Amino acid sequence: MGTDEHLTGDPGRTSEEVVSPYAAVDERDVETSLRPKSLKEFVGQGRVREQLGVVLDSAKARRQPPDHILLSGPPGLGKTSLAFIIAADLGASIRVTSGPAIERAGDLAAMLSTLDEGDVLFIDEIHRIARPAEELLYVAMEDFRVDVVVGKGPGATAIPLDVAPFTLVGATTRSGLLTGPLRDRFGFVAHMDFYADAELESVIARSARLLDIEIEPDGAAEIARRSRGTPRIANRLLRRARDFAQVRADGRLSLEVCRAALDVYDIDEMGLDRLDRMVIDALVRQFNGGPVGVSTLALAVGEEVQTVEEVAEPFLVRAGLLARTPRGRIATRAAWEHIGVPLPHDEARLF
Ligand SMILES: Nc1ncnc2c1ncn2[C@@H]1O[C@H](COP(=O)(O)OP(=O)(O)O)[C@@H](O)[C@H]1O
Ligand SMILES: [Mg+2]
Repeated sequence: MGTDEHLTGDPGRTSEEVVSPYAAVDERDVETSLRPKSLKEFVGQGRVREQLGVVLDSAKARRQPPDHILLSGPPGLGKTSLAFIIAADLGASIRVTSGPAIERAGDLAAMLSTLDEGDVLFIDEIHRIARPAEELLYVAMEDFRVDVVVGKGPGATAIPLDVAPFTLVGATTRSGLLTGPLRDRFGFVAHMDFYADAELESVIARSARLLDIEIEPDGAAEIARRSRGTPRIANRLLRRARDFAQVRADGRLSLEVCRAALDVYDIDEMGLDRLDRMVIDALVRQFNGGPVGVSTLALAVGEEVQTVEEVAEPFLVRAGLLARTPRGRIATRAAWEHIGVPLPHDEARLF
């Protein structure tokens, strides 16, 4: 696996998947140019913004680095953007790495030992860090010290090294996979949630301005509604609609042009793409609505379990089409209705 994949944590979807919440390789540059640069420019997530603002302002008032910060939430909601905003707000340098890139404790020790006081260390996908490195990390977070082990076996000795007081900013799509000791050492945890349609409309309006795209308000609303609560997807659909408008219309993104563009990319009224519909379809038609285990379901749609779990399901759950139960996945009444299959005779059992 290359470093790029490490940084995005993409479980294997390709750039053709227009509603993947992960960034495609060729999207990195445009994403960087669209990143909000300050908390003020950051749209939505009101509570996180307010709490984080207090954490940062009070640290600045004390002239001390703030507590370590964990950013938790699904891909594409602005975690990386926030990490850079935090560093910029503090006037600090930021060092960027990712959990999977830190294979050995020594890699991390080397990185920590070069930090200057007040630096921000951003570890993306922090739940994927190797265990020995994780243990070293939480000592560093608490005591600003690393124990470098020299030698092997009974003769090995640990040499303590001081680390300059720094702020760790960790990002994770799976906070449940963090060990207790690591989670406990974050003084502030920001739980990011999917965005409301109105917030996505603001994201789209802002991006359109930056990219010099002409879009009408109801066009922006249509794209927002189909963006699965995710700014990254909203920005991507905006660019795809722009492409469509340039070759099939006059370049202006009216409601009609946006609708036609979204149809071309096979994104339905609810923002479901092909994989989402396949999952719902298999649940209803092959498994009579479930319950069925996620690995069986993944097999039925020919996808990796991780992709079904992390890409399709969070949105399907949020859209009220799928329920996760201890006995397995269940299609809700709304799911049967969405794909137009008559409800089963024992429909009373449905959610
Ligand atoms: N609150 C926001 N306001 C404006 N744009 C946003 C916001 N959150 C995310 N974005 C846009 O979405 C893209 C993905 O955000 P990113 O920070 O990389 O998400 P994550 O790290 O959570 O996957 C960025 O290019 C950024 O332009
Ligand atoms: Mg990110």
